[in-house]
Amino acid sequence: MAIPAVPNPNPISEAAPSPRALSLQPLTEADLPLALALDRNCLGGLWSEAGYRREIESDRSELWILTTGEPVPPARPPLQNPPPEPSQPGRTILALGCLWAILDEAHITLLAVSPQWRRQGLGQYLLWALLQAAYHRQLAWAALEVRVSNAIAIDLYRSFGFQAIGQRCKYYQDNQEDAAILWLKQLQSEAVYQSLQAKAPLLHRRLHQSGWQTPTPSASVKQYFQKS
Ligand SMILES: CC(C)(COP(=O)(O)OP(=O)(O)OC[C@H]1O[C@@H](n2cnc3c(N)ncnc32)[C@H](O)[C@@H]1OP(=O)(O)O)[C@@H](O)C(=O)NCCC(=O)NCCS
Repeated sequence: MAIPAVPNPNPISEAAPSPRALSLQPLTEADLPLALALDRNCLGGLWSEAGYRREIESDRSELWILTTGEPVPPARPPLQNPPPEPSQPGRTILALGCLWAILDEAHITLLAVSPQWRRQGLGQYLLWALLQAAYHRQLAWAALEVRVSNAIAIDLYRSFGFQAIGQRCKYYQDNQEDAAILWLKQLQSEAVYQSLQAKAPLLHRRLHQSGWQTPTPSASVKQYFQKS
């Protein structure tokens, strides 16, 4: 006699892993050690601890981090000499970005994604978020310096409408490299605002494809995401 098939009450799920949570928030003292580790890994130690403290305290600065609440494995095979992952139990800083409001200008002073988490849409999301803040702070344009050899970053900024307007000779002290000066003009125009809004669903889709949830902004960041 044929034995009737009994449905397995505990089937092994073959579904894709759940997307990982992402938070977008200002850097605080509590996360300073993680931020410094990320700075060392990505930017060769651009800012000191005192420098980060100054930005945290300044009301002209937006210094933001993208974090994930869970300890997460590297997304890709380790590099040959992997830098130490900037994480504490239960928490990882994936990316760091900063803008200074100087008169009418939003000066992007920092944008860095931890090497293990690059090419997943985190850098462009963080840049987008900083530009939202610049818009809501009523700043007239955004500008930044970037190494002329940094084609990856230049591509990223160009995709947001930044244009090259000049160079600063031997701007970087370590190798005397020139900086390209990029700017995004007419930040308060409807056209720029609409193009930023149109990017949002694309950025979210990119993050989802890389296994991330839509980032949850903290209250102080969220205020910048609503039309004033
Ligand atoms: C620049 C940086 C922030 C980009 O972060 P990221 O999270 O990897 O970038 P994203 O995944 O959001 O990619 C956005 C776009 O940047 C460009 N880009 C990013 N990585 C790239 C790569 N390896 N090759 C070519 N283009 C690349 C592409 O235009 C990309 O869009 P696409 O993937 O749709 O083609 C990151 O590479 C970094 O931290 N670099 C070191 C620090 C630095 O140079 N900061 C900028 C100083 S001004």
